[in-house]
Amino acid sequence: MKLHEDIAYIGVNDHEIDLFEGQYIVPNGMAYNSYVIKDDKIAVMDTVDKRFASQWLTNLATELNGRQPDYLVVQHMEPDHSGSISEFLKIYPDAAVVGNVKTFLMLDNFVGKDAAPNRLVVKDGDVLSLGRHSLTFVFAPMVHWPEVMVSYDAYAETLFSADGFGKFGALDVDEEWDCEARRYYVGIVGKYGNSVQILLKKAAALNIRTICPLHGPVLSDDLAHYIGLYDIWSSYGTESDGVCICYTSVYGHTREAAELLADALTKNGCPKVAMNDLARCDMAEAVEDSFRYGKIVLATTTYNASIFPFMHDFVSRLVEHNFCNKRVAIIENGSWAPMAAKVIAGLLAPCKNITFDGTVTILSALTDENRAQIADLAKKLCE
Ligand code: FEO
Repeated sequence: MKLHEDIAYIGVNDHEIDLFEGQYIVPNGMAYNSYVIKDDKIAVMDTVDKRFASQWLTNLATELNGRQPDYLVVQHMEPDHSGSISEFLKIYPDAAVVGNVKTFLMLDNFVGKDAAPNRLVVKDGDVLSLGRHSLTFVFAPMVHWPEVMVSYDAYAETLFSADGFGKFGALDVDEEWDCEARRYYVGIVGKYGNSVQILLKKAAALNIRTICPLHGPVLSDDLAHYIGLYDIWSSYGTESDGVCICYTSVYGHTREAAELLADALTKNGCPKVAMNDLARCDMAEAVEDSFRYGKIVLATTTYNASIFPFMHDFVSRLVEHNFCNKRVAIIENGSWAPMAAKVIAGLLAPCKNITFDGTVTILSALTDENRAQIADLAKKLCE
């Protein structure tokens, strides 16, 4: 697939995968993107998961049409992109592998110290000329790993953005970008918003017509939309007006409270209520919703002197992903010693800029007083 007169897409779609990175369900598969720039010199941009090495090498050979690649640029050493380096070098041993000091430390660890004897070590800002095209390497540590760098081709006004601007889903499935890009971003890169902000500031100084990520579609229309979303996500802003309710329930009473609140929110004009039953939903969707909306309600039972395990897991994931800048309310249920609110507040203590909007305490089943408290909470969250 041609992206530019000299740039072709040579990536692959993976519909065999069950869990991406060992944890994320990907109902529409995954794409591992790779590109080739054909100029006086030829550069291949990253490889693919090793399970697809053969297909990728066939795609590459078709595009090369008998020519030999001069460079293999390794922007990211995570194996979904670096997994076919060895197979590439068996066929193209004279190609120089381009990376930074950290890239090669990881390459040594993953593949062995004898891998890739022909190495070109680049520094932040170095330029590799291919002819008309030249690649400027911009280090982007922690977007998603420390060795990550992105590459800017000024001639094609193209940013090869590594994991940045990626999404879940194979490219032969038509689906909305925002939803699966958000779930991907929050899950994979969400903890490192500050690093993404630094990269966005560097990117703002460049003329970019096309973004070529390592996952998801090549982006060329309405780039302001994608960059705007990345700015919100990486600054932990509120993307959508609404309330996210995440709950666990053992015998249905806590679920009843969550549904009562959702109903009251809607009646009070809340534009969107996102409900997540943490025992049954995709936890990554619930985490995504919690970062998307500015107001979160956590409803759960006290359990073994703590909180229900799914809620404990969920709140821990929020903290781990740098949850911040939110309003949080709690509905706790405990038949004899309710303490979920105290436990949740303790778990969220490291999170910055969290405002608590109060707690509703249920002692087993909802009372009229609880119903009134939930009605008041709905009003408060809609103010
Ligand atoms: Fe797509 Fe961080 O690897």
